[in-house]
Amino acid sequence: MSDLTDKAITGQVRAFYEEMPFNYYATAEDAAQRVAANPILSHPDLDALLGDDAIDRVLEIGCGAGWASNAIALNYKSKVTAVDMTQKALDRAREVSRLIGTEDRTTFVQSDLFDFQPEGRFDLVLSIGVLHHTHDCRKAFDHVSRLVDQGGFLFVGLYHLAGRRVFLQMFQDILSREGEEAAFQRFAALNAPMRDETHLRSWFRDQVLHPNETQHSLEEVMCWLDQNGLELISTSINGYEDVADRQVLIEDEAAYEALSRSRNYEENRFFPGFFTVLARRPD
Ligand SMILES: C[S@@+](CC[C@H](N)C(=O)[O-])C[C@H]1O[C@@H](n2cnc3c(N)ncnc32)[C@H](O)[C@@H]1O
Repeated sequence: MSDLTDKAITGQVRAFYEEMPFNYYATAEDAAQRVAANPILSHPDLDALLGDDAIDRVLEIGCGAGWASNAIALNYKSKVTAVDMTQKALDRAREVSRLIGTEDRTTFVQSDLFDFQPEGRFDLVLSIGVLHHTHDCRKAFDHVSRLVDQGGFLFVGLYHLAGRRVFLQMFQDILSREGEEAAFQRFAALNAPMRDETHLRSWFRDQVLHPNETQHSLEEVMCWLDQNGLELISTSINGYEDVADRQVLIEDEAAYEALSRSRNYEENRFFPGFFTVLARRPD
């Protein structure tokens, strides 16, 4: 893909989020409340790692409106550098940081992740739902991996190839047959506990109307980890259980399509097809 096309994709994605960032609440106060409830708890492996107190320097790539960076600074007291290319998202992230009193531990930087070249390396680099929106997820993965220090950790969340297919097809069918409002109503029904209308709309746009996304498998990501000298520690694919047997993990992820079908269609539960990995760079 040419450099010009790469820039065009980045520009399109930035414009999409300038209109409305992801995970965006009606007010900064609402967002601060969510941060205070510690949303990191929804990622048990990340919570356990941060709870160990050994993680001081954290870098978040693609922090968006800042829920994870602010939650880490508030609830685990780490120093967080957070990067995103979207001004509107960073403005909100900074506002929330002021409200919760973590300004001394957070630094928000506006940059394209590919241009971000910090001087030092980090104990933990995290990137949740970001790399698959770039012009080259693999290149982005390699770039963020290089920012992990010896003995440090990488936490990445990506769209899952098999798990995502069902979800996207369901919404493409509704969009083409009944239009955007019907698709939004279906999305809202799947996400019944999400009450804030602005927040819900920001999720809907991001998960259903996005102009650029790719999907990936754990098998693929395990190769990327190997090539970057990182060891897999845990993944949401098997519910954060033992990861010693890769063949079992590959079988677990093969079941993701059926799981997505039963969640989204039969149980009416939101299942967008997303997975996380936690990995470590050996000392
Ligand atoms: C789905 S949102 C996720 C935001 C945040 N991680 C969260 O979980 O709420 C994707 C974010 O990635 C950012 N992003 C996408 N491509 C980027 C790039 N090339 N450089 C920096 N940020 C990027 C967008 O601006 C957006 O805020």
